[in-house]
Amino acid sequence: MKRLFIALAITLLSLPVAADEGMWVLPLLQKQNMPEMKALGLKLQDYDIYSPDSASLKDAVVIFGGGCTGEVVSPDGLVLTNHHCGYGAIQSHSTLEHDYLTEGFWATSRNEELPNPGLSVTFIDKIEDVTDYVKKELAKDNDPESMNYLSPKYLNGLAKARVGEKFLQDNPGTEVEIKAFYGGNQYYMFTKKIYRDIRLVGAPPSSIGKFGSDTDNWMWPRHTGDFSVFRIYADANGNPAEYSEKNVPLHPKRWFKISIRGIKENDFAMIMGFPGRTNKYYTSWEVAERRDIDNTVRINIRELRQKVMLDEMLRNPQIRIQYASKYASSENAYKNAIGSNWAINKRNFEKVKRDEQEALLAWADKQGKSEYRTALNQIRDIVADRHDLRFRQWMLNEALRTGIEFSSVPTDIDPLIEALKSKSSDKQKEIDKLTAAFRRFYDKDYVPEVDKKIAKVMLQEYRRLIPHTSQPAYFAIIDKKYKGDISRFVDDIFDKSIFASNENYNKFLKRPSAKALLNDPMILFAKSIATERENLNKALESYDTAYNRAHRTYVKGLLEMEKDQVHWPDANFTLRLTYGQIKGYHPRDCVYYTHQTTLDGVMEKEDSTNWEFVVPQKLKDLYQNKDFGRYALKDGRMPVAFCATTHTTGGNSGSPVMNANGELIGINFDRNWEGVGGDIEYLPDYQRSIIVDIRYVLFLIEKYGEANNLLEEMDITD
Ligand code: ARG
Ligand code: GLU
Repeated sequence: MKRLFIALAITLLSLPVAADEGMWVLPLLQKQNMPEMKALGLKLQDYDIYSPDSASLKDAVVIFGGGCTGEVVSPDGLVLTNHHCGYGAIQSHSTLEHDYLTEGFWATSRNEELPNPGLSVTFIDKIEDVTDYVKKELAKDNDPESMNYLSPKYLNGLAKARVGEKFLQDNPGTEVEIKAFYGGNQYYMFTKKIYRDIRLVGAPPSSIGKFGSDTDNWMWPRHTGDFSVFRIYADANGNPAEYSEKNVPLHPKRWFKISIRGIKENDFAMIMGFPGRTNKYYTSWEVAERRDIDNTVRINIRELRQKVMLDEMLRNPQIRIQYASKYASSENAYKNAIGSNWAINKRNFEKVKRDEQEALLAWADKQGKSEYRTALNQIRDIVADRHDLRFRQWMLNEALRTGIEFSSVPTDIDPLIEALKSKSSDKQKEIDKLTAAFRRFYDKDYVPEVDKKIAKVMLQEYRRLIPHTSQPAYFAIIDKKYKGDISRFVDDIFDKSIFASNENYNKFLKRPSAKALLNDPMILFAKSIATERENLNKALESYDTAYNRAHRTYVKGLLEMEKDQVHWPDANFTLRLTYGQIKGYHPRDCVYYTHQTTLDGVMEKEDSTNWEFVVPQKLKDLYQNKDFGRYALKDGRMPVAFCATTHTTGGNSGSPVMNANGELIGINFDRNWEGVGGDIEYLPDYQRSIIVDIRYVLFLIEKYGEANNLLEEMDITD
């Protein structure tokens, strides 16, 4: 009897559970997900993960900077995130003499930890469902065109009103925010605590932290040690404070325990983090729009821009450092767009979404509800009608705004012109302001020669694809004065503009004149682009208003139709949990990728003649000597990365990956090529999160960085 029972229990346990898809909201875990998570192997209770009134795992998960996730791993405020998330900070401390990007960096004591102005770490102290409150407030507004229900400004105003000024004053560093979910059918309020003294503690060299670079980016099997280490500092009371020598390491409420016991295929895994944006509730027309406009423009433009950038970077080591971050972020979104289009086409996303729409229509017709058909027809018409405007907007953004750096020179010059004309006493103050703005634009990473080369290519392509009558007004000068010669036009801008070089700017400072400002070609160029952008935004606004309402209605319909199913809301850079299993996959017929990579693979990929695949000598030595400490697999190999069926997207970089006990087993850093389309449609057989194995991280800290001081702070169990 007992044996039968066990056999039964085993079959029940191994029944395939249709899990994996979803970026879940923490307060709903208990209701929506716990049974399934337990069936997959979770050993914790929901309140271990998230509890409204006591410390739980979620308290060790933070927003790192502006778009990544991080996790606290020591009682002294040590934070782990990705190398690519700390990249800007690592780059900012790098010079040709101390090139931390190339060499890596390890602080051997706390006073060697490097401050990073502008970098922050954000804790989520509280999450509340405020749907009723927001809907009540919204009901007071009877403007049918109002966009308040999605407006961050309006919603955050409501959040502040709800907690009161006094609360915010009494809690320095605390902010509140209300965000819309399900297209504006539900609202949550987040109480956040933001720390602004964040110091760089350690980073491997790029040849480890970015191993495989662009070729391997978005790819499995992967061999990148994509992590970096920071520390949160606070004032003596543990409150957020601006950087000060007097600040001390933060003693957080919670930090992760780290497990080096190892992992197996099919083990339970879960990830908490801040996924940025998904479009699960796209209609078929939006899928096509995304492919044919957004992704296509991005791919075309970035390919041209990156080629110029990369040539310059490979030619000149100084430029390589200066443009490292810009290049990496450009390339990252570029390759993502390619993967997205691949998935849209190969996996028939248009049809998938069309089937969803049709199911809703059939159901709605039966119920006699006409609003859903109206909403869908509206979305279809809007997408068709906005086609040209949207194409122009994407071209403007990609080619001119992102593409050409001098399109963001300071343009706020009217007060200075006024002061110069009236010879008022404000003159010096206004000049100083302009100088400060100029230095922000012309920072240490700006290389005019590179910008000039790129601008020529960008303008060429922009003018080829956009009718001349639909271009920024200032561009008429290219045809008139320069007879269409873009190269001469750009050279001239760089000759004449006060922002084109330090010499030019200093010349201007010697004899500042209103005329020089009024005729400055970079300022005129930048202003013209800003005006064109405003025009396009305005022209698209009426579509946006109608679109957002129709979208909200469509989502409401889907939720209503499938009342008995659970639905996750699209990602919106709020704290979410995703769970699934550690698992390999079949990328194509006959091929199976297993779930774990090892240092053997790093050595296989090694290529000293290709900058993307150089392996540092010290790592080779460790490999040769099998000096893996306590981190090796049973068969003696050194683990590097693994993949799991969890549902992640941009923003999840740096997220803690946990086992069934909630212990840290890895750091999320990427997604596989076959899963990039998961922002629109999750495919359980294809989508995988790519995770650096925590044993590789610890091995690198101990054996490569020799930073045992850091390991001693951590809670490591085997
Ligand atoms: N694809 C990963 C993410 O979206 C990693 C990006 C960093 N690497 C790079 N080559 N840009 O952020
Ligand atoms: N690397 C991405 C990030 O920076 C995560 C990869 C993904 O999009 O899933 O957030």
